[in-house]
Amino acid sequence: MLEHGGRLRAAAQQYGVPLEQWIDLSTGISPWLYPMPDIPTTCWHRLPEPDDGLDTIAAQYYGNHQLLATAGSQPAIQQLPSLFAPCRVAIIGPTYNEHVAAWRHSAHELRLVDSLAAALATDARIIILCNPNNPTAMQYPPEVLLHAAAQLQARNGWLVVDEAYGDAYPEYSVTPVAGTSRAPHLITLRSLGKFFGLAGARVGFVFADSALLEQLADQLGPWTISGPARWVAQHALANTAWQTNQITHIKDAGVRLKLLMTQILAPAEPVQSTGLFSTCRLPNAQGLFKHLAERGILVRLFPNESLIRIGIAADHEWKRLELALRSWKNT
Ligand SMILES: Cc1ncc(COP(=O)(O)O)c(C=O)c1O
Repeated sequence: MLEHGGRLRAAAQQYGVPLEQWIDLSTGISPWLYPMPDIPTTCWHRLPEPDDGLDTIAAQYYGNHQLLATAGSQPAIQQLPSLFAPCRVAIIGPTYNEHVAAWRHSAHELRLVDSLAAALATDARIIILCNPNNPTAMQYPPEVLLHAAAQLQARNGWLVVDEAYGDAYPEYSVTPVAGTSRAPHLITLRSLGKFFGLAGARVGFVFADSALLEQLADQLGPWTISGPARWVAQHALANTAWQTNQITHIKDAGVRLKLLMTQILAPAEPVQSTGLFSTCRLPNAQGLFKHLAERGILVRLFPNESLIRIGIAADHEWKRLELALRSWKNT
């Protein structure tokens, strides 16, 4: 199993701070989760039905009906390699480690590269990237991605774009055209875990060409998402007023965090932000991670890249984060 953020219990033990005193900024999950609607008992009692309306509501929210609902992005990430005959694959990194793990454990020939241009230059038939990227927060404009998808299509290849952190900036999303006649060889992944704060519900979507979606659906089997999760997801995806408010909240908090990190950490390279988290490279990223952990604030350290990634804090957590960052002296 790979390491992920959110492991508060382990941190509490290691740093001797009681569990209930921690602020968890290690995941990039929104601190404001979608308010739970009442869940009818039938959702618990009956088998989930694929025509319960979730796909229609999701198609409206994402602007594309070429979709398959999955139990979060994770099952799709794991199954994608098995949908293609062995070929050369390029992943743009550093990025979400589950992508690398899934393709590394497959029959494909994997190359890790640091840009889309480098990925295209490898002659890979499949390119995988996250937009915005986790952890670097790097973002490609949609026209660049669509051009790359067209280039890959010309070599009978595919572009996979994971937009798990994409909801706060929908103008960057290529999901509306994934798998349609405008971009038939483009596949995108979406998640309700981050923007909606519903990581525990395990709901996500794949957008792709219908033959590919059918193959994936067959591999995943029936009832991949529980009835209660489908109910909550329908409410969250339909509630446009809440979504608009959430975008404002996340963008404001994102700007505030990016500014604070820029002022205090004074990194050599600019702090990059997705709204939900901000990331920067620091010579002593490890030292900052420890400094915050000793104050009961868990962030995410990427030691190999000297990156520190901090999620946005809820309003009541902000002061503690600010004080902890202000007391940091980079050594
Ligand atoms: C880029 C990216 N994609 C996908 C996932 C997994 O999301 P889900 O909860 O939908 O499985 C994560 C989780 O951190 C992620 O960072």
